Amino acid sequence: MQLIEHLKWRYATKQFDPTRKVPAEDLEKIKKAVQLSVSSYGLQLYKVLIIGDQELKKRLKPASFEQDQITDSSHLIVFCNYTEVKDHHVDEFLERKSKIQNIDMQDLVDYGDFMKDDINNKSNIEKPHWTARQTYLALGNLLTACAELKIDACPMEGFEPDQYNKILGLEEQGLNASVIATIGYRTANDQRQFADKVRKPEHQLFEVI
Ligand SMILES: Cc1cc2nc3c(=O)[nH]c(=O)nc-3n(C[C@H](O)[C@H](O)[C@H](O)COP(=O)(O)O)c2cc1C
Repeated sequence: MQLIEHLKWRYATKQFDPTRKVPAEDLEKIKKAVQLSVSSYGLQLYKVLIIGDQELKKRLKPASFEQDQITDSSHLIVFCNYTEVKDHHVDEFLERKSKIQNIDMQDLVDYGDFMKDDINNKSNIEKPHWTARQTYLALGNLLTACAELKIDACPMEGFEPDQYNKILGLEEQGLNASVIATIGYRTANDQRQFADKVRKPEHQLFEVI
């Protein structure tokens, strides 16, 4: 299984080579992996910003605790969850499903009502947590796809979502920056790449029942 080797190769990259850019065809592959991510009911209640613009990355660096990865990486990926979930989100999904899978909309009404009931039962505090959790599944796929493509990445929670929301105009779109990642290529002197992985031993992590 190649996947394990890819996962051993990757690490949370601290020093990116600022001269190297991820080629467009690899970006497309990464986008496809993110697009194919699982999500609750398949609703994909988030948007993903792919920021290559260096000026914008410079503006976001102070809102990212000055972490160098923001400006040295090739692209900054911002996962943004919808903060409110409305019936129209479900209706848009059903229309898509109806078209793609050739199902009569009428046959999806009960399923739609079931989803809407479940979602409307969540409190307004729970809803954005629920949508933010979905973005982490997409982040996971992005990291794995990058590893297979031998593209380095760093998942990052070290940023100020309120600042990001302001700078990127997310709030007015009903969005919130939930988690970010930087992608690019490691420098030869990033010492972290040589460190052994620190992971819980299997007997602590797993319980086979
Ligand atoms: C959600 C999340 C947030 C993280 N935030 C940061 C961050 O802001 N800056 C950073 O350098 N590393 C960050 N990391 C990287 C972790 O510290 C790293 O993945 C972990 O120590 C395991 O090491 P490895 O990824 O090199 O195997 C984050 C990781 C995750 C999953």
